Amino acid sequence: MDFIVRTGSFDKPRSGCIVAGVFEGRRLTPAAKAIDATSRGHIAEVLKSGDLEGKVGATLLLHKVPRVGADRVLLVGLGRERDLAESQFRAALAAAVRALRGTGSAEVTFPLTAPVKGRDIGWLAEQAVIAIKDGTYRFDRMKSKPADAKRAIRKVTFVVANKGDVALVERGVARGEAIGEGVALAKDLGNLPGNVCTPAYLAEQAQELAKRHGMKAEILERKDMERLGMGCFLAVAQGSRQPPKLIVVEYRGGAKNAAPIALVGKGITFDTGGISIKPAPEMDEMKFDMCGAASVLGALRAAALMRLPINIVGVIPATENMPDGNAIKPGDIVTTMSGQTVEILNTDAEGRLILCDALTYVEKYKPAAVIDIATLTGAMVIALGHVATGMFSNSDSLAREVIDAGNASWDRAWHMPLWDDYQDMLKSNFADFPNIGTRAGGSVTAACFLSRFTKSYPWAHLDIAGTAWKSGADKGATGRPVALLSHFLVKRAA
Ligand code: BES
Ligand code: MN
Ligand code: ZN
Repeated sequence: MDFIVRTGSFDKPRSGCIVAGVFEGRRLTPAAKAIDATSRGHIAEVLKSGDLEGKVGATLLLHKVPRVGADRVLLVGLGRERDLAESQFRAALAAAVRALRGTGSAEVTFPLTAPVKGRDIGWLAEQAVIAIKDGTYRFDRMKSKPADAKRAIRKVTFVVANKGDVALVERGVARGEAIGEGVALAKDLGNLPGNVCTPAYLAEQAQELAKRHGMKAEILERKDMERLGMGCFLAVAQGSRQPPKLIVVEYRGGAKNAAPIALVGKGITFDTGGISIKPAPEMDEMKFDMCGAASVLGALRAAALMRLPINIVGVIPATENMPDGNAIKPGDIVTTMSGQTVEILNTDAEGRLILCDALTYVEKYKPAAVIDIATLTGAMVIALGHVATGMFSNSDSLAREVIDAGNASWDRAWHMPLWDDYQDMLKSNFADFPNIGTRAGGSVTAACFLSRFTKSYPWAHLDIAGTAWKSGADKGATGRPVALLSHFLVKRAA
């Protein structure tokens, strides 16, 4: 798909579809006004018939608008003009792309004339590119034959009024393309079933990604982890027939000895719960338990496409969590790479068990900051639902940066507490501490557990249990929080 930026009139493409916004009360955006003028009032007349009032996400497709060269004009509702904020704009974009998908237009023209409070036109372009890539994403690799698709969108042209805005919009488009590619990679990996996307498959994909972008990939095998003393990660892996992998990908775009940002992603390729087995309903969704890992690879892809001048190391502990004759049992005590011992009271709290050793492992990179990304707790879904990712941190300034990156990309996170008061919930009579607390504050105790392994660097933990995938009719990976991570890296690289 090609993205082009140009100045000039909004209504001049000779083919394809022009997208134009309409506010509530049938008020036209500048682009819609221009089309209306060219068509000598045709748009206003159609709207008078009441087919589109301008509610957010409503669309109306018009064919053969008089004197307009394009084959189609797609009108999109933007809601009330003074309420046009990020979420409305994104909902309108998503609706537009959905409607476009149904038309078979290969070429689309997007005038960028609807202002969103506090956002520049580059932001609008970035969001539009991401929305187009998101809305046209398909996962039919596992179908025996692909669904008969309409003609795909091949070319998207953004039209801006001022020449002075072109550079800003081009930068926004480039960011959107890179992030969109990263998101698509994360979605693909997330959507693949557990019998395909095994730890070995993730390792292969990481190697392929590294090769394509001149990064370095290293895969540590079970014997390497034994040598390193990763007793906790290996404890989870011992119940699986699939060999575990510790995947390390290094992107070096920064100065030779500049401290890297470490991204650590939970890579449970299927979480049955182990001996503390999960109930059957919706267990299929535990194939998404490697979405943290997928977001690390997606962010690396985006960073590489943007050629960010920064060093990044992605670390992914990958294994299944299975019940087995050799699986860990409740009450088992294991020694982590840090030397601390853990009493495994619930084998379903396995994410923290693999992450803790990966978090100790990244110490060797003397990272400037570490962010882990994990579908860690069901309690996170209860706390924040499917809108915000939960963010915990041992550094207020890093926390600020992560929250800001979420707001900048509109892939938002919410700051959760990591106060000492919560640490008391992790007490064991037999080992240094257990892997679970009580039911209350389940996401916080999980973060508290991880905090015991992250004392030597600024660290943020993203619990994406509620945001990494959707259930129901739209079941599928979302690619979150690749956009947040990408923006964080962009800011750090600047
Ligand atoms: N992968 C799950 C978390 C999860 C559950 C994410 C449901 C999204 C939806 C994680 O490994 C897990 O099972 N966590 C347990 C922890 C508990 C045993 C302390 C949970 O949240 O129930
Ligand atoms: Mn689990
Ligand atoms: Zn899990």
